[in-house]
Amino acid sequence: MQERLEEIKQNTLSQLATASDLEQVKELRVKVLGKKGEITQVLRGMGSLSAEERPRVGQLANRLRQEVEAAIETKEKELEKQAMQQRLQEEKVDVTLPGVPRPLGAIHPLTAVIEQVEDIFIGMGFAVAEGPEVEQDYYNFEALNVPKDHPARDMQDTFYLTEDLLLRTQTSPVQIRTMRKKEGHVPIRIICPGTVYRRDDDDATHSHQFMQIEGLVVDRGVSMTELKGTLLAFVKQMFGEEQSIRLRPSYFPFTEPSVEVDIRCMKCNGGGCRICKETGWIEILGAGMVHPHVLRSSGYDEKRYTGFAFGIGVERVAMLKYGVDDIRHFYTNDLQFLRQFRSV
Ligand code: DAH
Repeated sequence: MQERLEEIKQNTLSQLATASDLEQVKELRVKVLGKKGEITQVLRGMGSLSAEERPRVGQLANRLRQEVEAAIETKEKELEKQAMQQRLQEEKVDVTLPGVPRPLGAIHPLTAVIEQVEDIFIGMGFAVAEGPEVEQDYYNFEALNVPKDHPARDMQDTFYLTEDLLLRTQTSPVQIRTMRKKEGHVPIRIICPGTVYRRDDDDATHSHQFMQIEGLVVDRGVSMTELKGTLLAFVKQMFGEEQSIRLRPSYFPFTEPSVEVDIRCMKCNGGGCRICKETGWIEILGAGMVHPHVLRSSGYDEKRYTGFAFGIGVERVAMLKYGVDDIRHFYTNDLQFLRQFRSV
């Protein structure tokens, strides 16, 4: 019996020596020390031993069990350490490897212009408003003093979706939506950037889709002087302190009087060139005093309140500011063009 126990120990130790993973060691533990393990099997036979032999064999079996147990534990620790070493090795990061460069994106020039214009007007106390691109005929035309069959409808060739729904041709309908929301309260001081659509053939200066920034101020005693001062402050911040503006009489159905506003041509500095058609000036926006009809139809008493409005051409401003000569560049997603604006 003693020999059998010795044999079990030797077998176990030699198997342990060659074991290469934790699973094997676990199996070995069950096989030797488990409830139905080899040592237990041997001890079952103790009954056949003499009274003197029994305690001796019992002691021996216990010692052996402890030795085997210790050997197994040592092996387990060793294997665990090995596994950890291996994981550390496998998961090692080589910090000296060169990185994978990710190309840097750029803010689209139209977005950049809109953000700058917003900052300037927010600085003058304006809030930013929004309106839908699919608009009702009422907001896009009728409430803006352009009834059906009015000749002014020809100024803006329109994409109609139904008889009553269209793609807005201008951001001016947001004027009406804002006044209705304010329900006769003043002051109103908003700008609204957005996309507009017209049935134009695309060329270097026309696009069937483009962007405008609408402005509206309504309060007591709002005057043309304030309109001019506001626009001059905007132009100086946008294009430089030395810039000046020129107001020319014009016509828009929703303003009276109406003006078109020019800035000095930045190419020739006012001397006259191809870009400004030798005039020294370039138009960037339309504006005027809000027509009394428009105030009244939107719930404002035109005898108590006055207002001014303007509509800035975003592409126009971007073309002047960044020296872009074809409006189509803004919409064709040419990376060579767009990458130039990384620093803007
Ligand atoms: N909506 C006009 C257009 O698209 C631009 C404009 C002119 C807007 C005068 C205004 C304004 O608010 O007062 O041609």
